[in-house]
Amino acid sequence: MNNTGAHSNPPAAIILLAAGAGTRMKSTKPKVLHQVAGMALVDHVLAAVAPLGSTNTLVVVGHDKELVSEHLKNKHPKVVTAVQAKQNGTGHAVKVALAELGKVSGPVLILAGDTPLLTSADLQNTLAGLAGNSATVLTAHLADPTGYGRIVRGADGGLDKIVEHKDATAEQLAISEVNSGVYAFDADLLRAALENLATDNSQGEQYLTDVLGILRGQGHSVAAVVTTEENILGVNDRRQLAAAGAVLRSRICDEWMLAGVTMVDPTTVWIDRTVELEADVTILPNVTISGASKIRNGANIGPDCSLHDTVVDHCATVVRTTSNGAIIGERANVGPYTYLRPGTVLGAGAKAGGFVEMKNANLGPNAKVPHLSYVGDATIGEGTNIGAATVFVNYDGQEKHHTQVGSHVRIGSDTMLVAPLVIGDGAYTAAGSVITEDVPAGSMAVGRARQRNIVDWVLRRRPGSDSAQAALADSSHKNSK
Ligand code: UD1
Ligand code: MG
Repeated sequence: MNNTGAHSNPPAAIILLAAGAGTRMKSTKPKVLHQVAGMALVDHVLAAVAPLGSTNTLVVVGHDKELVSEHLKNKHPKVVTAVQAKQNGTGHAVKVALAELGKVSGPVLILAGDTPLLTSADLQNTLAGLAGNSATVLTAHLADPTGYGRIVRGADGGLDKIVEHKDATAEQLAISEVNSGVYAFDADLLRAALENLATDNSQGEQYLTDVLGILRGQGHSVAAVVTTEENILGVNDRRQLAAAGAVLRSRICDEWMLAGVTMVDPTTVWIDRTVELEADVTILPNVTISGASKIRNGANIGPDCSLHDTVVDHCATVVRTTSNGAIIGERANVGPYTYLRPGTVLGAGAKAGGFVEMKNANLGPNAKVPHLSYVGDATIGEGTNIGAATVFVNYDGQEKHHTQVGSHVRIGSDTMLVAPLVIGDGAYTAAGSVITEDVPAGSMAVGRARQRNIVDWVLRRRPGSDSAQAALADSSHKNSK
């Protein structure tokens, strides 16, 4: 997928700043753990960082440090963390990181944990710009630069310093080029410059951005590398979270279409970054595919599907279906209005039709549950047909029980299969039966009351009614007399 650029020289260290509170998210969840396209914000940043090949990646945590550290330990076990107990500013956060890293020298890449649209190419370019310079900063020109640090350039066009929005003059506020928060530094020069940081600014914090001005003042050159407005979008509130999600959605769809997937309306297709598709998959409008889903070539998905952790094999068709944790075999047919729950496995050519719910159920090759049925805790053999409105009665109020149905069985419509139960190969059940005992192979099981007709009941008990008159007019009634 995204961010697969080959790396040249890995940086000596990569530092991600993620100790801030994320107040504007108005959430009990730490900002960097909010998800877009199926991954936490910090996961997207670490995915962009991964192709750089550094073995030394550190995340500065502080606010909600337990939750963030736990997430990192589970998802990125090689990443180390450093705790910034009090958030005294981005410059202070980098000091904490360098103290934890110990003796590093050479290029260090620094970025924030809340910028999920950065590409590996942006990061490579920022590092490459360090050649012959003491530092580089990734910048972009914004239509609305409000809130960002402004890039102040000197008469020669080179970067002079960065001024925070809150500290900027009217003239500086008019600058549209802003600091993305991505930097590359020479580690030794950075370490020395951090010692000179002051807190005489509007926020009383140690600004990492001041390091650039300090380096310039010492006569070192500092370069700016420009990227697009879209790539540097930082997530500070839920609107920006949605905006980042929309950009990722469109990027992911573009990549899959270029890889051979047909999308009739990509603007209504949401595919997580964790999903795998193959060429010649066709996706119709209004489809969401999430989690560890995998869709194999020739499959047709949609319209109107939500597939989570679902495997769809070659040439299967899935229409208007909600599926979580199912495996849909090749050429299988699912939908419309079908609900597949965890543990559902459909064999090759099998069918789960309209208004069918399945859970923990294995449907053999070419077996069919065409209409209006519930199949829970069952194994169904090859070529078996389950009649409309059949219920696998799996729950006795306390425990779940299993039903085994053999191959080439014919279950009549509206059958209750009361588990535990074993139905032998080739057996039949009569429509409307309640089956409570095992059925031997080849038997017909009938589990229903015999019908009796009470002749002329309507004429006696509902005389003069429309029904009675209709009955009297009916020639078959006269004939039966
Ligand atoms: C910062 C930059 C600004 C830039 C903007 C880009 C500074 C002083 N300003 O501003 O020039 O345009 O990012 O988005 O750096 N953090 C810590 N510890 C702290 C403070 C912050 O780890 O003590 C982390 C935050 O969690 C966040 C990142 O550093 O991931 C940036 O901090 P934030 O407070 O969002 O800085 P901005 O005001 O956005
Ligand atoms: Mg910010």
